[in-house]
Amino acid sequence: MRKSLKVVTIGGGSSYTPELIEGFIKRYEEFPLTDLWLVDIEAGKEKLEIVGAMAQRMVKAAGIDCTVHLTLDRREALKNADFVTTQLRAGQLSARVLDERIPLSHGMIGQETNGAGGIFNALRTVPVILDIVEDMKELCPDAWLINFANPAGMVTEAVLRYGNWPKVVGLCNIPVNAVVNEAELLGEAPEKLFFQFAGINHMHWHTVMDSKGVDRTDELIKLMYGTGTNTEIVANIKDNNLIFEQVENLHMVPCPYHNYYYHTDKMLAEELADFEVNGTRAEKVKQIEAELFALYKDPQLDYKPKQLAERGGARYSEAACETITSIYNDKRTTMTVSTRNNGTVKDLPDDCAVEVTCTLTGNGPVPYNFGSFKPQERGLLQLMKAMEQLTIEAAVTGDRGTLLQALTINPLVTSGDVAKQVMEEMLEAHKEFLPAFFK
Ligand code: G6P
Repeated sequence: MRKSLKVVTIGGGSSYTPELIEGFIKRYEEFPLTDLWLVDIEAGKEKLEIVGAMAQRMVKAAGIDCTVHLTLDRREALKNADFVTTQLRAGQLSARVLDERIPLSHGMIGQETNGAGGIFNALRTVPVILDIVEDMKELCPDAWLINFANPAGMVTEAVLRYGNWPKVVGLCNIPVNAVVNEAELLGEAPEKLFFQFAGINHMHWHTVMDSKGVDRTDELIKLMYGTGTNTEIVANIKDNNLIFEQVENLHMVPCPYHNYYYHTDKMLAEELADFEVNGTRAEKVKQIEAELFALYKDPQLDYKPKQLAERGGARYSEAACETITSIYNDKRTTMTVSTRNNGTVKDLPDDCAVEVTCTLTGNGPVPYNFGSFKPQERGLLQLMKAMEQLTIEAAVTGDRGTLLQALTINPLVTSGDVAKQVMEEMLEAHKEFLPAFFK
């Protein structure tokens, strides 16, 4: 009998699921998946049924011998899993709308992984992920947890530090996209270049070296920022506002999310202008999702539609499926993921999560040593890590004082009375998902 190979995807009703299926189909030879369990909660049942049927059609059309199971029973699904992937959104898109709208109404950036919105996203998601880890300890103690749930870095760190679960990898699609786009700019094949990323999720910098050992970072910075032709970077961040003068001195390429920190006023003005026309990004995503699910309902559709590219998570499956395949086969793919620091970035604590370039072995990610940042990156990085740690602690303890500290030091949150006001308003708005704060 064929050996079972089981993957469980929590948040399986997500519109990203076809992306994941496509990745598994592509890698079936090296990752002979027998069972894929898509799990969701009651509120996501309709979406799960629609996207689940679509996943079943994709698998059938590909002619692979894999069963796609749909369930609302997480514990049943987790039994003997080999890999568990998490792509859930606690409170669904309606909670993201609040994460974005409330800060904006106080004149701050409203964003799902940054500022006050990112903090509240973490407060809702951390308890859910820690619950999943408890189930995994009991039902699939050998499984790897591959997390894409946002804010991915904080969620991964919570699993490491509070879940005491070392077999976790945090994913993001930003590095995968950067490698492809920037290799093209440099006129090189991606596999001929070595990109070294270091930092934390949505706050990392990178360098690039070619196969002759030549550092091409400054050349890349010139191509990206010195020609006045900055283009879209990810679908959810429209403009790259970074300017050559501020990037050239870093001698490292910042990530798209640096726009929020290096050009806060401009990003806020753009967000407000967009808000007048389209509402927040979450509201736009709701529209995109409605269109996607209308397509997924078509019984003839058995491949990932191109409209999925309107979401910000392009190449998510490259990151997820390649990570899983590489761990399974000890393939040693080079990939940038969130993992335990262990001294990789000297400026951050050993036990925190960092997003760094790694070799993905059968024993999980082995990071390339990075060392120390220069002050221009270090200052912001250490501040953001402290903010993350306070946020995770607040999520676990439900302590308002700790939460207020996290908000106070977050560069995107106005301090003082306004921070406290936003805190109270958001706690109330998300009450249903924050039992730790309302004991
Ligand atoms: C980027 C980020 C992801 C995020 C996504 C949002 O790709 O790396 O962490 O989830 O954008 O895209 P959305 O379409 O939901 O705005």
